[in-house]
Order: sequence, then structure tokens, then C-alpha cells
Amino acid sequence: MDGFEYRNGVLHAGEVPLPAIAEAVGTPAYVYSADGIRTAFHRLMAACTTMGARPHYALKSSPNLHICRLLRELGAGMDVVSGGELERAWLAGTPMEEIVFAGVGKSDAELRAALSGKFSLLGEEAAKFGRSDIEERGPVGLINVESPSELERLSAIAAELGVRAQVCVRVNPNVDPKTHEYVTTGKDRNKFGIDVDQVPPLFERYRDDPFLSLVGLHVHIGSSVRQTDPYADATKVVLALIDDLEAAGHKIAVLDLGGGWGAEYASGEAPSVDAYAAAMAPLIAERVAQGLRVIIEPGKKIMANAGVLLTRVQHIKQGRTRRFVICDAGMQTLIRPALYQAFHFIWPVQVEEKHLPPKRAEHLDLEDLLRCDIVGPICESADFLARDRDIPKVKRGDLLAVFSAGAYGMSMTSNYNDHGRPVEVMTDGGKATVIGERQTLASVLEREREGRRLELG
Ligand code: LLP
Repeated sequence: MDGFEYRNGVLHAGEVPLPAIAEAVGTPAYVYSADGIRTAFHRLMAACTTMGARPHYALKSSPNLHICRLLRELGAGMDVVSGGELERAWLAGTPMEEIVFAGVGKSDAELRAALSGKFSLLGEEAAKFGRSDIEERGPVGLINVESPSELERLSAIAAELGVRAQVCVRVNPNVDPKTHEYVTTGKDRNKFGIDVDQVPPLFERYRDDPFLSLVGLHVHIGSSVRQTDPYADATKVVLALIDDLEAAGHKIAVLDLGGGWGAEYASGEAPSVDAYAAAMAPLIAERVAQGLRVIIEPGKKIMANAGVLLTRVQHIKQGRTRRFVICDAGMQTLIRPALYQAFHFIWPVQVEEKHLPPKRAEHLDLEDLLRCDIVGPICESADFLARDRDIPKVKRGDLLAVFSAGAYGMSMTSNYNDHGRPVEVMTDGGKATVIGERQTLASVLEREREGRRLELG
């Protein structure tokens, strides 16, 4: 399946029992399965073939360098949304031309680093990560621009550097992806993209710009989009726009259809990669045959189910109305339940046979479950991993696995309440490797150690 399964009542990642990992590195810990990543990516590649598309991994979902390197080896391009992510993609071995740079608020410094092709925001420190070839790296393959103001800045910076930027215009298609409000990006009330009617005048304005090439369109409607219709609708909107632009004499060579394909947080809750591809493939087939370059930018669909968060129960508290299972992971380790009321299946790492979960769901029809709130150590009532959840009885010291935590888990962690960020481990067959060390308290405090008097002019 996704690399995690119970063997003799013990949850394993590949061949590795999770209690052994907890023993070796402590908790909370993110554990990823390399096999799970490979399986998800291979499925995705098959769907991409159907669509005639190339996947660019949305590395914000799980940015660890080792994960990016694995996905590079498997053939992914990269989708980044900040100067930091751009450097990360490059450190992971991605040639600049295989990086797509999106994001609604790019700074001048970020645009310069992306375009110049000669300097890294990391400076000389890039050498520490094995890259000392900064000067030859070349400009980023594609910049997805989100506002007329950004286009203006980009044109000025490209002129200053004497390069020609390859640009897609991100369109806001005003399509409802029918997902949580906070991960909806394709409606006209959202800050993302440019309204359809404003796009043709922009193509006119920059038609002969010597420093900008408007080569295509980008659209990304949201995340955890669990239906395929919104993709068909958004694709139709951009295709109609392509017709208009081409009728006006613009050549559209690239179509970036974004990410957002839903993952299976609960078994069976999201369409397969093939279903998403099938919704879009017939709409774009003719243009693909004529040479249109199509890109998709999946994050969750690759990574969500390829990782679990391993946490240890610190205390059990029976309140008047609720039973609390208090863990060492909380909103500082996984913020999705607090922020989006997101569902993650949570289950003990070691269970009796009668408690082997037949699927991942909010309610399982098993005997002897206890209703509880699974919460973290943080001083906030929003600090929960699950509420009103029926799980087998657990005691202090037991391990719980929070499933489908491989995407937007580690990347959204914080140091709130002075917790260090968790350790990351990747298993491959019978091997387990620490791919990100647990953050020490000293490193959390380091930036405040001295203080620095400002010399104000
Ligand atoms: N492309 C762009 C331009 C994006 O902004 C995103 C995600 C993606 C691709 C990848 O979307 P995915 O395939 O991973 O759904 N923190 C939220 C999700 C936020 C997504 C932000 N943008 C969560 O935990 O559900």
C-alpha cells in the first residue's frame, strides 16, 4: 500500500518496526517510507503519461532535501514558492530549468536570485551542501507571475540583469474547488492569480518586451480537492483563454495545471490519480498533440500517505465529560487538525489482533474502543490531533501513529512553547536513516543569545 502496515500487531514502515525507531531517536518523530514515495510517484507518472504532463513536485509539502533528492532520481521537476525553496530545489540537484517558481509575494531579492543564474541566496554556504557551481546555474525555467505589479518588477529586474524571463501568468479561474476555505485558491475572493479578463491586456502590454517572454498560463485551484469536476472546469476556463490569446497572435507553449489532488486521509475518500488525469486528458489532448507543454504540481498526492508522525502518550486524563490522551506531538508538530479541522487517522503502534484497523476512517466498527480527545502539550485549546475519536485503550508510554502526515506536517512545524522541531527518519526496505535531526533547545535559543545594538542612521 503506502509503505506502512501492521505485522504481528506492530506497525512497520517497510521492514522496520516503528517502536525500534522511537527507541533509537525518541518522539515525536516523522517517519517516511521511501517505498511509499516510490509507489505514489510511479502511479503519478502513469497518470502523467495519460495527460501528456510532467510532474513538478510541490516541495512545500515535504521539503526535506533527502526526499527532494529521491523524487529527483525518480524524475520529478520541482515547484517552489520562495527563494528558500528555490535554493532547496537546486541543492537537491534540480537543474534550474526544471524549476517552476510560483508564489504571490516574491521579493526583488528572490526574483533576482531566480533570474540572474549567477548567485544563490545561500552565498558561499551552498558549498557546504555540495554545490559550488553557483555561477553556472543559469536562470530558473519558469516564473509563475501572480499580479501585474509583479510582472512590472520582473521586467525591470530582468532588464537590469540583461536576461529574458520565461513567464506563465497565473490565472484565477473563479472555480470552486469544494475544499476547506483556507486551502481554496481559485475563487475570485482569493489573493491568488489574475482575473481572466485582465490577462489578455497583460499579454498585449508585454508582447514585445525584450526581457519577458509570456510563454503560458498557470492555474492552481486549491488543495485536498476531492472531486475531479473543478479540474475540468478550471481547465476549460484556461483553454478558452488560450484560444483568445492565440486568436490575438500570442503563442501559448506552456500550460501549468497546478496541484491539489486529494490524498486518502480516510480510505477511499479521494479519486485516484488516474481519475484526475482522466478528467483533464481529453480536454487537452489535441493541444498536447500539437506540442503544448503541460505541467502539474502535486504535493499531497505523492507525500501525504508516505509519512506518519510517531508520538508517545505522556498522560491520560479522565475529565468529567472527556477522556484526554495527552501526547508529545501537538499543534507545534502537526498543525493541520487545529488549522483546517483536518482528519488524520490515529491508531496505536502496537495492537491486539482484534484491533487491527481494517481501513482508515473516523469511526471503525471494532470492539472495546474508548472515545477520547487526542491532544498535545501546547497551552492552547486548539492543540488537538483528534477529537471524539474511538481508539483502543492506551496508557502512558504507548506509541501512537498519526497517519497521512507526510505532507504539510514537518513543513508547518513551529517552535511554539519552545519545543524543538522533530526528527525525520526515512526507511527503505530494512534500513532507517535520520534525514533531519531533532532541533536542539540550544539551536532554538541561539538567535536570541546575544542581541545586537542597531546603528541607526
Ligand atoms: N502548486 C501551488 C502553486 C500551490 O500553492 C500548492 C499548494 C501546490 C501546487 C501543491 O498542492 P498539493 O498538491 O500539495 O495539494 N497546508 C495545507 C495545504 C496548502 C497548499 C498550499 N499550496 C494543508 O496542509 O492541507
